[in-house]
Amino acid sequence: MRVVNLTIIVINLIVIVLAENIIVTTRYYIFTTIYKVSFLISVLQTIFMKVFGICASPRNNTTEYVLKNALNQLEADGFDCDIFTCQAKTIRPCMHCDYCLENKKCIIEDDMVDVYKNLQEADGIILATPVQSGGISSNMSAIMDRTRALEAIDYNLLRGKIGMSIAVGGDRTGGQDFAHLKNVTYFMIHGIIPVSGGPFGSNLGASFWSNDSLEDIKKDSYGWESLNRTLIEFENFLNKYI
Ligand SMILES: Cc1cc2nc3c(=O)[nH]c(=O)nc-3n(C[C@H](O)[C@H](O)[C@H](O)COP(=O)(O)O)c2cc1C
Repeated sequence: MRVVNLTIIVINLIVIVLAENIIVTTRYYIFTTIYKVSFLISVLQTIFMKVFGICASPRNNTTEYVLKNALNQLEADGFDCDIFTCQAKTIRPCMHCDYCLENKKCIIEDDMVDVYKNLQEADGIILATPVQSGGISSNMSAIMDRTRALEAIDYNLLRGKIGMSIAVGGDRTGGQDFAHLKNVTYFMIHGIIPVSGGPFGSNLGASFWSNDSLEDIKKDSYGWESLNRTLIEFENFLNKYI
């Protein structure tokens, strides 16, 4: 993606240099100024890699706390970050009506519109889910299914992005790995490159034990270590492959 962007930048530079030398009228001066501004924006977009984090809890509590912490660390390292939380949002389940295949957009008009926009723009994606019934939340499941509409637009839209998983369980061994496996499976199906934090406690991503409490998750040192290790790999992958 970066190579394509750089090629476009070089082509744009040539166009600007040619326009500067050939075009002299006021109308074209305005045109080239607008062109230069939009070109500058595209250059900045290429320099700053974008990370999009989805918090799939129905409330803003422990999972959101962990995700925001991860995004803050990434922002401190120069990444441009955005978050979507499912709290008070409507994400209806996919109806398998196949409208998206014909019309290149989802028939359901709800808060997925934000997710679609951010997923398209992102270089890195963080899926953060509370563990529910031993796996991902129903919000996360609905979001995953609804991205079928993105691939209806362009099969390669998500391919080559980097993906990272965060799972927050109320129990110490409440199904965090099953939640990670679902997130990682989703990444693989869509051509997103999944990262591991390494074989010492962050094998499939960052795993937390919240004990159903915001105060307790802050004390989950093992969870924070797993987050730090996974973030290091996530950044390495972004810098190497994007
Ligand atoms: C419907 C429901 C099912 C849950 N199932 C599990 C579970 O299977 N395993 C587990 O460890 N925690 C389970 N929990 C607890 C949550 O994972 C835990 O409280 C988590 O910290 C919630 O994240 P949040 O604060 O971001 O909402 C469940 C909670 C709810 C509401």
